[in-house]
Amino acid sequence: MDSHTWHLACTRPELPEPPRHTAACWARMTSDGHVQAIGVLRRWLNALYIETAETRVVADRLNEIVDENAETGPGAKGIASVAGANTLGKSTAVRRWAMQKYVEWTADSPTGPDELPTWNPQPTIDADLCPVVWLNLQSGAMVKGFNSQVLDFFRLPASGAAHQTSTAAVRALARHGARALVIDDFHLLRTNWKGGREVLDHVKYMNTELGEFNASLILVGTDLRTSPMMSDAQIVGRLQPMDLAPYGIETSAEQHAWQQLMYRLEGHLLPHLPRASEGLFTSQLAGPIWKRTQGYVGDATRLLRIATLAAITDGTYTICADHLKDVRLSDRAHTAEAEIDRRRRSRRSRA
Ligand SMILES: Nc1ncnc2c1ncn2[C@@H]1O[C@H](COP(=O)(O)OP(=O)(O)O)[C@@H](O)[C@H]1O
Ligand SMILES: [Mg+2]
Repeated sequence: MDSHTWHLACTRPELPEPPRHTAACWARMTSDGHVQAIGVLRRWLNALYIETAETRVVADRLNEIVDENAETGPGAKGIASVAGANTLGKSTAVRRWAMQKYVEWTADSPTGPDELPTWNPQPTIDADLCPVVWLNLQSGAMVKGFNSQVLDFFRLPASGAAHQTSTAAVRALARHGARALVIDDFHLLRTNWKGGREVLDHVKYMNTELGEFNASLILVGTDLRTSPMMSDAQIVGRLQPMDLAPYGIETSAEQHAWQQLMYRLEGHLLPHLPRASEGLFTSQLAGPIWKRTQGYVGDATRLLRIATLAAITDGTYTICADHLKDVRLSDRAHTAEAEIDRRRRSRRSRA
C-alpha cells in the first residue's frame, strides 16, 4: 500500500444503510429485485465495523499516547502496542482509529494536484501531507526491508546501504508530516536471529527519530509479549501495551460484555430481519453464537451476517439455531467448537 491508496481508503465514504424491508415487501419483490436487494444488503453487511467497548478502549488509549507524545519534549517517546491472538480484530480496530485520525488531521489541509492533502514542512516547500502512515510489515523484514517499506509507501526509491535508507525513511516521514507510524504484523520483524539486536536497535532509532518531530510509533501484532523485543529493557521501558482477548462467558462480567456485543449486533442486524424480536442475540442465541465463535468479534459478525442473508433468502426473516449451524467459519473456530463439544460430552459421560 502506498500513501495514495491509503488516502483513498481513509476518505472513501461508508456505504449507506440499505432500506429496511418488511417481510411482505421482501416477499412481493420480483426475483431480480430480490437478488438486487440481497446484494445491496450483503455489501453493506460485509463492510460493517462493529465498535465494541474494547475497541473504544484501544482508540482512547491510542489518542492519549499520541497526544502525550505530541506534547512532550523531543526525543524517544512512548511506543504503543496492540497485541493478542490471530484474527481477534487487532488490525481492524487500529486501522479504524488510524483512518479516523487521518481524516481528522487532514481536514483543514489544501488539496494538491493529485487530490492528496498538502502542507508546507518549511515555508518554501510543498509536500503531500500524510499524518498517519500504515505499513503491513513483510515477513522476515530486517532493517533495510523495514526502511524500504516506509520509502515505498511514499513511492520513493530505497537504494543505498541500510543506514542511508534509515535516514531517507526518517526524512520522508518528517517531510510528509507523519504524526503516527503504524506497523501492522510487527511480529514479522526478524528479531529472533543473531542479527536481531540490530533490528531491535533500529526500532529504537525509528522511535527516537519520530520523537524529534513529536510523532508516535504504534505496533500491532500477535504475541508481542513473548517476542524477543520484550527482552530489550529500553523498548520495554517505553512500551504502552494493550491486549485484545476473545470474549468469555464464564463469569457474569464476561457474560455482560458478550451481551453488550450482541446488543450492538442486534442494533445493526435486527432492523433487516423483520420477523426477529428484540433479545434474539442478547438472550436466545447468545450461548450458541458464543459456542460457534468462542468470543471472536470477527467470527461472530461474519456468522450473523451470513445467517441474516440466509434467513431472508429462505423467507424465515429471523435467525434460528439451524441458520447458525449451517455457516462455515474459520478452521480455528471449527476446531475450537469441536473441542468444546468433546469436553461437554466427556463431562456428561462422567456425570
Ligand atoms: N470490530 C469488528 N467489526 C467487524 N469485523 C471485524 C471486527 N474486528 C475484526 N473483524 C473481522 O475479523 C477478521 C479478523 O480481524 P483482524 O483485524 O484481521 O484480526 P487480527 O489483526 O487480530 O489478526 C477480519 O475479517 C475483520 O474484518
Ligand atoms: Mg492483523
